[in-house]
Amino acid sequence: MKRNEQDSILKEQIEYYEARATEYDEWFLRRGRYDHGSKLKKLWFSEVEQVKAELKKFNPKGKVLEIACGTGWWTEQLVKYAEHITAVDAASEVLILNKKKNGQEKVNYIKADLFNWNPQDKYDVIFFSFWLSHVPPDKFEQFWLLVQKALRPQGRVFFIDSLKSEGPEKTYTINNPVNPTSLRKLNDGRTFTVIKVFYRPEKLTQDLKQLGWYFKVKNTTNYFLYGFGSLRKQNRL
Ligand SMILES: C[S@@+](CC[C@H](N)C(=O)[O-])C[C@H]1O[C@@H](n2cnc3c(N)ncnc32)[C@H](O)[C@@H]1O
Repeated sequence: MKRNEQDSILKEQIEYYEARATEYDEWFLRRGRYDHGSKLKKLWFSEVEQVKAELKKFNPKGKVLEIACGTGWWTEQLVKYAEHITAVDAASEVLILNKKKNGQEKVNYIKADLFNWNPQDKYDVIFFSFWLSHVPPDKFEQFWLLVQKALRPQGRVFFIDSLKSEGPEKTYTINNPVNPTSLRKLNDGRTFTVIKVFYRPEKLTQDLKQLGWYFKVKNTTNYFLYGFGSLRKQNRL
């Protein structure tokens, strides 16, 4: 795929989240089109709780950078532990909703395109949820260099992402090795193409090791992938 095609997908990805902002939470709350019955809902929320417990154990304290913060489901968790949060996203609409939910003195919002963002500060913790899967494989290394640049020497990283699901929540992806994409639909029927890369814990751990990162990457049974790590080997790694 040519570079300008990738640029147009990444642009469409931002437009998608701008347009989806007010219905984004239906996905997280398993409502509307994302409601696949009470049994699966219970499973989803029990796995959300599992990841929340892991984040609590990780203890994202100090100065935290949240990359692609979205409407703020995880900002809400981070404010419990962090002294200060810088929350970055490219979509104004999601930043407005996040601010409504979590706006307080210790949360600072930045509107920026992460593929063209030069962080001016260093952080104790960098967090991102459901973002890594939207980074094209050929920008994976560039993204982790951004994380490295924004991290203090003893800094730590925690991320959450989607596990490939085969159930009714299955996301269809076009397995282009350069730019794997997924077609997303809004409630009004509009469709958007986004990048979607599904990772497996072992392979992702190895890929990160090659870039110099020590990570533990795990998954819940059905829905989530999560990982925590740093550039130096620390106790839990
Ligand atoms: C799947 S959502 C995740 C949001 C949030 N982290 C969560 O867990 O609910 C992906 C987010 O990435 C943001 N995003 C997409 N492309 C971006 C870009 N190039 N730079 C910054 N943010 C971007 C979207 O606006 C959206 O809020």
